[in-house]
Amino acid sequence: MTSAQSRMPDPVPFLPELAAIAVPLHQIIANGVIPPVTIGLLQLRAGQILGSTYFTIRETANLRRLEETEERITAVATWHDATVFTSAERIALELVEAVLTPNPSGERVSDDLYARAAAHYDHRALWHLVMAIAHIGFFTPAALIAKPIPGRPPGKNYSPAAAKVAVAGATGRLGRHVVDVLTERGHQVVPMSRATGVDLVTGEGLAEALTGVDIVIDVASWHSSEQEAATEFFRASARNLHEYGQKAGVAQITVASIIGVESATAGFLAAKKEHEALLLSGPLPVRILRAAQFHEFVGQLLDWRQGEVAYVPALPTQLVAGRTVAEELVGVALDPRAPAAGAPIPEIAGPRAQTMAEAAALLGARRGVEVVAVDGAGMPDAELAAKGAFLPGPHAKLAGPAFQEWLDAQP
Ligand SMILES: NC(=O)c1ccc[n+]([C@@H]2O[C@H](COP(=O)([O-])OP(=O)(O)OC[C@H]3O[C@@H](n4cnc5c(N)ncnc54)[C@H](OP(=O)(O)O)[C@@H]3O)[C@@H](O)[C@H]2O)c1
Repeated sequence: MTSAQSRMPDPVPFLPELAAIAVPLHQIIANGVIPPVTIGLLQLRAGQILGSTYFTIRETANLRRLEETEERITAVATWHDATVFTSAERIALELVEAVLTPNPSGERVSDDLYARAAAHYDHRALWHLVMAIAHIGFFTPAALIAKPIPGRPPGKNYSPAAAKVAVAGATGRLGRHVVDVLTERGHQVVPMSRATGVDLVTGEGLAEALTGVDIVIDVASWHSSEQEAATEFFRASARNLHEYGQKAGVAQITVASIIGVESATAGFLAAKKEHEALLLSGPLPVRILRAAQFHEFVGQLLDWRQGEVAYVPALPTQLVAGRTVAEELVGVALDPRAPAAGAPIPEIAGPRAQTMAEAAALLGARRGVEVVAVDGAGMPDAELAAKGAFLPGPHAKLAGPAFQEWLDAQP
């Protein structure tokens, strides 16, 4: 298993000029005259010599994408006695090995080796070969010192720097997963909820809790679905998080919202729409992740029943695990690159659409509760929900486990 952590954070926020170097360097190689397979072979060999798992995984994946055989990929490590490479490829491998290996008894690239290389590659090709080796050379210190995450594409191959993150609603269904994910990823967490002495509505305890905090993740929520009361809660919490956050020097607030709020006209979803607007109108930068209903929420629907039978609307949803949302939310919050202007608000949902009643029936069977599907009439925006307005959009990230899988894994 590869580590999901890089040793250092993404260099680009510290060295914005880097992109202006790395992109043209990459283009020189991509537009050059050396076959991509030869470049892949020599860069894989370079990764092996340098002892960089990042390079070896990346170049092995590149060669597989180019439909190279496993035999040739494997033989790169022992290319000297392998018979599967052309003479031009062997010269490329010999050159990269010579450049990267000390030679106590002479020049690393001898006149003899240069002459043999020049016999296979004209000046133009040889310069491209030099640049393919230079490309590895340029990124070698990053690979060995900063250790980007193997197997991840550029731009996603560095984990964020350790940050101090306050989690508003840390004891909730989502909040406890957010705390876990942050802790596992090496961040310092300040859990905030009334249980930890912080009241987002009155502001009690907020100033102390936000001291030295870099980022706030807001997953606090009102306990009932009544629109007016929920809106009041979100109005107070948004105001206080901005006000106390600004005083404490917080850089940004990331909030969990709900997929489809933009079309909501009533109920809790309309309150969440207002929540987004309230947060966005404050002084601190705000990032939003909209999530589908959580797997964990289905149990609440059963808990709300009166009597033996739970009446659950047969409205479509694409349930997602709280843990999955937490992983995505932490990623959004700590992404060193701010979201691009005009980009759609990111969404996270589970892998499969089903009705809430279907999911509730699966849980009900486990708990011995009878679930009866109803049409949702009387629920806010039931018609919109029936038409799929609260299902993920085309740009949504879909991630498991699906509800049944998640249920099977519950104790
Ligand atoms: N549930 C879903 O299916 C779903 C789906 C998509 C998005 N979301 C969004 O995700 C977020 C979290 O939802 P959730 O279901 O995890 O909520 P939850 O389980 O109801 O948790 C709410 C949290 O807010 C805290 N809280 C409530 N009042 C507070 C106050 N006055 N001051 C400080 N903390 C307070 C609670 O702790 P204390 O009681 O200790 O104060 C608790 O930690 C919400 O914004 C929700 O809209 C939820």
